[in-house]
Amino acid sequence: MEAVKVGLLGLGTVGGGTATVLLRNAAEIQARVGRAIEVSHVAGLGIADQTIVDPAKVKLTEDAFEVVNDPEVQIVVELIGGYTLAKDLVMKAIDNGKHVVTANKALIATHGTEIMQAATAKGVTVSYEAAVAGGIPIIKAMREGLAGNQIQWLAGIINGTGNFILTEMRDKGRDFDDVLKEAQELGYAEADPTFDVEGIDAAHKLTILASLAFGIELQFEKTYTEGISKITTEDVNYAEELGYRIKHLGIARKTDNGIELRVHPTLIPEKRLLANVDGVMNAVLVQGDAVGPTLYYGAGAGAEPTASAVVADIIDTVRSIDVPADQKVPLLGFRADSMRDTPVLSIDDAETSYYLRMSAEDKPGVLAEVSEVFAAHSISLEAVLQKEPSEGVNLVNLVLLSQQVQEKNMNGAIKEVEALAAIQGEVVRIRMEHLG
Ligand code: HSE
Repeated sequence: MEAVKVGLLGLGTVGGGTATVLLRNAAEIQARVGRAIEVSHVAGLGIADQTIVDPAKVKLTEDAFEVVNDPEVQIVVELIGGYTLAKDLVMKAIDNGKHVVTANKALIATHGTEIMQAATAKGVTVSYEAAVAGGIPIIKAMREGLAGNQIQWLAGIINGTGNFILTEMRDKGRDFDDVLKEAQELGYAEADPTFDVEGIDAAHKLTILASLAFGIELQFEKTYTEGISKITTEDVNYAEELGYRIKHLGIARKTDNGIELRVHPTLIPEKRLLANVDGVMNAVLVQGDAVGPTLYYGAGAGAEPTASAVVADIIDTVRSIDVPADQKVPLLGFRADSMRDTPVLSIDDAETSYYLRMSAEDKPGVLAEVSEVFAAHSISLEAVLQKEPSEGVNLVNLVLLSQQVQEKNMNGAIKEVEALAAIQGEVVRIRMEHLG
């Protein structure tokens, strides 16, 4: 059988990794697929200087549209990232009847609905395994392996850079900026690292996972997003003392009223497997009604781990080329005509437990005053930790753990606590999940 021709857009970290894996594992891949897969056209800035593909066998260009418009190319692999140009290229590829593979979570989370509709109308596939959790085959697991389940909730560490920063802060007491710089040098961080540290990258990925889990449209704008930039070593240490670790989680949960979609730093019990996922590694815990909890773990970023997912998508695409469109695995897991309109809840309606830290005057009765406020809001406290004041200072750190409560109720209680004369400044709040 004739080789399938692939066009690569981007030969950076992931593009380079993809070309390398396709070349190195060509024989293995052919044995699995039954036909050869050849990179025939590559676009990238400064492409003349590349040393990965053989210019005698592969067309090289700086104009990505040349690849998208190349009649020989059957699969376009978009690895340039970003929203605008990437979207134009993907839409043009679809319009030209080409299958698309992308690692671009921002693109899928924000323009995925339009892209999937265009692909379905044209009878081509759009695959995005590498967009979520790098090398972990979580899309395949959700869309196919768990297809018999009603998904109840999922929680994931889905940003490697953020996890690397939190791990290094906890284990080595390293400074936030210093660790971020290292993540950038290692090629883990996004082009704009605020996407990593402010939770936007994780929110893109959670948006995609929630669509696959619950059959809802991609709704990035409704995902509550909070990053790790305000986490202090003090809170990391207090959490440890109480038997918890702080992890940056993406959480999607189906409730009777709708779907909670939230990304934020989260205290989790230190014994949970997720609490022990360190460094740049990612992990996603999925709770299905039939299977119970399942955990997926692996490298969430980096050239070859991400390439592993891209190449798997290319292989799947080749295998499905002659399959009639209505018999292919639906692009978002549920058939386009069976998507649901389950509402995504506002963060005010989410229910979770809380870690609260406040600075209180060191005098009798303060703890009782604070407890009364929580009692008046029917909020049960699970643990209280009072730290010794530093020498010459009359303020102590009070740390409280609450039981599960609706966010809007907690907001009201926090406002009242902050208004107490004995409490100085704002109450620090970090949400807490037991993941049981
Ligand atoms: N910046 C992302 C991360 C890369 O750190 O996880 C993989 O999506």
